[in-house]
Amino acid sequence: FMQKEIHEQPRAIGDTIEAVIDAGGFSAELFGKDAADVLADVEGVQILACGTSFYSGSVARYWIEAISGLPCNVEIASEYRYRTAVANPKHLVVTISQSGETLDTMEALKYAKSLGHEHTLSICNVPESAIPRASRLVFYTRAGAEIGVASTKAFTTQLVGLFALAVTLAKLKGRLPELQEAEYLEALRHLPGSVQHALNLEPQVKGWADRHFAAKEHALFLGRGVHFPIAMEGALKLKEISYIHAEAYPAGELKHGPLALVDDQMPVV
Ligand code: F6R
Repeated sequence: FMQKEIHEQPRAIGDTIEAVIDAGGFSAELFGKDAADVLADVEGVQILACGTSFYSGSVARYWIEAISGLPCNVEIASEYRYRTAVANPKHLVVTISQSGETLDTMEALKYAKSLGHEHTLSICNVPESAIPRASRLVFYTRAGAEIGVASTKAFTTQLVGLFALAVTLAKLKGRLPELQEAEYLEALRHLPGSVQHALNLEPQVKGWADRHFAAKEHALFLGRGVHFPIAMEGALKLKEISYIHAEAYPAGELKHGPLALVDDQMPVV
């Protein structure tokens, strides 16, 4: 299953990018009819999601702050909904959910709305599911059906939508040089091919996994910047698919404790 799903990545990413290109690039229309008014008005972003969708949101935080200059928070939906949060109605609440039906994410959205948040955007893979229906703006990823237990192409297509959001916000805020926009679009166009190129390495990766991972019981994933949430996603996928215990840390944290676990038996990605 997992292998079949993984090989659908270039198609899923390609379809989602096509939606961006069809909308004429990074434009507010990608997110709905009245998105321009809403997005031009927002002063920050609050992302709420669970699991893998939380990790794509965590990547997006780096992009949104770096590209659009807007402050961005990301929180696990089940933490947000059960605490007393302080709302800033000028912030856009972005929920990310493959299924559009995850209860914690839905309840976090309801809670945000009850606190006065009116600007809401759902990044979702299932049209007309509960979360997009409860949101003002929507971006539908085109991953196709997620059949396996582990979310795979949902993650990468969410990243496409979130990258488009970061660039669109930058544009509306007058922070996007024209040349840069063309470069970002060109980079997106190359993405399905790059992913295919990586997938073509499967035989080498398999050999390497057989030699270095299959017999291990633990693994550490490290990364800095956008690669930190990518490391968290990697650790989650290893756990779900192989039942091998894995943990992820920001690269700079290794020396602050987890280094104690590293010996010549510990694979470190
Ligand atoms: C991991 C996985 C879960 C989901 C999480 C959120 O592979 O599938 O962590 O990402 O349950 O689900 P959605 O995105 O449907 O809200």
